[in-house]
Amino acid sequence: MSLAPRAARLASRGLAPKALSHRLARPYASAVTDLTPNISYKAVTHPDSAVPEATKSLIQSQTHYLLNTYARPPLLFTHGKGLKLTDSSGREYLDFTAGIAVTALGHSDEGVNKVMAEQAAKISHASNIYWNEHAGELARLLVENTRQHGGLGLTKEGGSSGGKVFFSNSGTEANEGALKFARKYGKEVGGHKKTGLVCFTNAFHGRSMGALSVTPNPKYQAPFAPLIPDVRVGELNDMDEERLQSLVDENTCGVIVEPIQGEGGVEASKVEWLEMLGRRCREVGAVLIYDEIQCGLFRSGTMWAHSSFPADAQPDIVTMAKPLANGFPIGAIMVRDRIAEVISVGSHGTTFGGQPLATAIGCHVLSRLSEPSFISSLTVTASHLEGLLGRLPKMFPGLLKTDLRGRGLIRGIAFKDEKGPGELVHLARERGVLLLTAGKDAVRLVPALVVSKEQCDHAVAVIESCLSIMQEGGWGKKDKA
Ligand SMILES: Cc1ncc(COP(=O)(O)O)c(C=O)c1O
Repeated sequence: MSLAPRAARLASRGLAPKALSHRLARPYASAVTDLTPNISYKAVTHPDSAVPEATKSLIQSQTHYLLNTYARPPLLFTHGKGLKLTDSSGREYLDFTAGIAVTALGHSDEGVNKVMAEQAAKISHASNIYWNEHAGELARLLVENTRQHGGLGLTKEGGSSGGKVFFSNSGTEANEGALKFARKYGKEVGGHKKTGLVCFTNAFHGRSMGALSVTPNPKYQAPFAPLIPDVRVGELNDMDEERLQSLVDENTCGVIVEPIQGEGGVEASKVEWLEMLGRRCREVGAVLIYDEIQCGLFRSGTMWAHSSFPADAQPDIVTMAKPLANGFPIGAIMVRDRIAEVISVGSHGTTFGGQPLATAIGCHVLSRLSEPSFISSLTVTASHLEGLLGRLPKMFPGLLKTDLRGRGLIRGIAFKDEKGPGELVHLARERGVLLLTAGKDAVRLVPALVVSKEQCDHAVAVIESCLSIMQEGGWGKKDKA
């Protein structure tokens, strides 16, 4: 193992190398074939308890007025640059959460800042009762890039047939609109009974009444029942033809699924299953909706997680949000022309969606993400990260499941013990690396798409050190599990 001798000596005494005292350590590259965990980062460098008094009292006063909907550590970030976040005491963290798969170009990106400042100085909002300079351009970029990169069943030879876009302000609203469009399309093609919606186990589609109704998690749904009627829940990746026939029937108007689940545990939908689902949707005239809010817009390595899927597995509607304006609120619904035909004036609307500020930023972000040089560098980094993460189940067989989940830069480390993910997130945070949990059993890595190989090396080295701490603490032993 290539651990530097000094770092090893310090680590064995529970001390951090000096460079780690509160700043981010220099990257530590580990050999992808080496199965000895890196233990350089066992010492706590960023204790949650070391919060300045001023921050503590600010948090206390905010708690007084903010609704108690989030469980948060006592961390308050004041600055960000690239993958670095700086807290109120000047400590730097390496951010592998990207604001939950949002800041694709990194925090405080100069290009984004420039577009934001220039557009804000011109006009931010004048409402959808008038035209603006950027909404149509962002819609064009979305449709034509989808045609080039693959997705929504569009082909390069497709000529004028294509898609159309509606802009919202968030992912939930994008799904809400997509479900409404499916209902409207269903009624127009199949009559008033064609209103059924289908979703799948562990899906997450949002928190409004419609989106929540297709998010079959009792923790989120139960307090707010009754939800909207006519929703069925199927098993993700269930290849049984008969069950599919009764799940999606003549009265189904829409089926919603994430090609790679985000919140649900970074579980990928199998392509063969999506083909089967797509064929069944077409058979009964149901709209197939892909929620690519978390996995879309190049996070999976291609523009859409479904970009390279065969024709049968292509959707009728794609929803997106998170990275489209690098953190400025935006969402979008992209529909095939035949769905667009049933959407008329007054069918749907929003005050803010598609406003010039959000869509100007969106044009800039999408142009950058779709540059060939950006995609090829993302591909190289993603495969480097895959190599690093692929070793973990072999290094820690008692702790981790064998499957490495996800694709590109949406990755999941699956634990045998359901308490494991929370523990790893906590240990890594106290060593300056921010991670997310996903579903019941996974830790999720969704760094900015501008992440470097060295930053991947560092994050994984910290993860290895934390998993070593867990292993030494008895995690993964039979009596602990
Ligand atoms: C797949 C998916 N769909 C929908 C949503 C909801 O998006 P928003 O939080 O922007 O409303 C999320 C958010 O995490 C998501 O990951």
